Amino acid sequence: LAAAFRAIKAGLKVAIMTKADSFSSNSVLACGGVNASLGNSKEDSQREHAEDTIAAAAMLGDTAAIDTLTAKARQSVLELERLGANFDKTDDGRIAQRAFGGSGSKRTCYIGDRTGAALVQTLERVCSDMGVITLENHYLLSLLTDRGAIGGVVALNCADSTVIAIEAKSVVLAGGGFAGIYYGNTTNPANTSGDCLAVAFRAGLRLVNMEFIQFHPTGLVGSGELVSEAVRSDGGFLVLEDGKRFTNELQTRDRLAREIAKEIENGHKVYIDTRHLGGKLLSDQMPNFCESVKTRLGLDASRELVPVAPSAHYTMGGIEVGEKAKTAIKGLFACGECAASGVHGANRLGGNSLLESLVFGEIAGGSAANYAEANDYRDYDEAAIVKQTRRVEEIIAGENRYSLNALRKSLGNKLTATLGVFRQSAGMQDAYEYIGHLATLKSGLHCVDKRRENNDELVQILEFHNALAIAEVAAFAALERRESRGAHFRTDYPLARSRFCKNSFVTLKHRNFLDLRFLKPHSIEWQLDRLRRAMTN
Ligand code: FUM
Repeated sequence: LAAAFRAIKAGLKVAIMTKADSFSSNSVLACGGVNASLGNSKEDSQREHAEDTIAAAAMLGDTAAIDTLTAKARQSVLELERLGANFDKTDDGRIAQRAFGGSGSKRTCYIGDRTGAALVQTLERVCSDMGVITLENHYLLSLLTDRGAIGGVVALNCADSTVIAIEAKSVVLAGGGFAGIYYGNTTNPANTSGDCLAVAFRAGLRLVNMEFIQFHPTGLVGSGELVSEAVRSDGGFLVLEDGKRFTNELQTRDRLAREIAKEIENGHKVYIDTRHLGGKLLSDQMPNFCESVKTRLGLDASRELVPVAPSAHYTMGGIEVGEKAKTAIKGLFACGECAASGVHGANRLGGNSLLESLVFGEIAGGSAANYAEANDYRDYDEAAIVKQTRRVEEIIAGENRYSLNALRKSLGNKLTATLGVFRQSAGMQDAYEYIGHLATLKSGLHCVDKRRENNDELVQILEFHNALAIAEVAAFAALERRESRGAHFRTDYPLARSRFCKNSFVTLKHRNFLDLRFLKPHSIEWQLDRLRRAMTN
């Protein structure tokens, strides 16, 4: 939406394609807020925001990208307010800010605990008013390319299961991450299956740092649904069954998730305690929390303890992008969670994901607009359309041999058990082999329901193909990173190792062989020096 808004302001013709409706996304579920060093509730500066982000990233943050992120934060938030986002306010009318884990200040601007939904609504309205076309119910199948440049995309029109080509002068991938593949233990919708990453990977682009998967410390026990950091920020405590606090609730997510997971491994139950906050504060500031606790667990958060556990939340890795959100395919850009912009490194700060989407969305939209202005439509190889049409027809027509839901669930369970908060070699090897086994079964997955109109089963099978491809890359990269860093914690290598102070890059080679390299980012001294210089200028 941020990219589309930027591109349509440049006078381009813009369409957003989405597999569901335009209000269904992970951004909508990002509850707690968006970071900007406004200093409205406590003293703050861009420099402190950047330094907190660098520290959380565990030596893998890209300082130039972090400088861009933090420098544009104020302007992004104020622009959203100008467009109508109704941020909560302090008594003197300024945007209110709350403290999030790992931040030295109160930096997170919010709209109750429904910030993402409100920002999406705002951008959706302005995009639609300005004439952005939205193609809902269209599922991305592959890219159309011509000699290293983009020509458009191949998509499934879910309304009637036809495969169509959409020609475009430039394309921005902004389809989110892949934490939804932890089916049953994720804060994400189940359809957050890494589609953009898988499509980019099959098109030859590299995937970066796929082993860094953030577990939100507090998911609801049972469903994994998000209990926003806002609840801890606004006074909720983490307690064990004896009602006693056991940790600092506002440390970075990687550390807190490990503390909670350890307590659970040791046989304890972990709860979020909001009983002391009072019904009014809860319903005013955390209506979403109260509602989901009531609906999912039948609990009243003003009177009862709410059981929580870490839940797969965010994937720091993604499609390799360079400056200005460029990928290695000309005219193709990527932003948001599906892209590895470098701002999160090995661990993301809460509140920086909506910000990244806004800032790098705008950059990607600007790049796409410039490229479209300077280039014409390309030819493309029609074989890509024929190939995808055959694939779809085969999935619809064939005889089904397995339960899709059982396979998705077993992938989710395996990933949670072996590629979770704590990892070790034998478990990850087992996951890697199990993913390979599931991949051998996927040709036996077909639609039981042969209907062509809005066949959810067809889309879910396609998503599962992507989930398997992405899970394989994540498990492979995690096995090869023999150290602990940020969200990747290995009990067999519990310390960070300087030889792995590098980003991992995975490429798909001939016959589905995966090639992995670790490449050094700039040294931390270089990064800090560059950051200082950028700020003094
Ligand atoms: O806890 C939360 O509200 C999530 C926010 C985020 O991931 O940035």
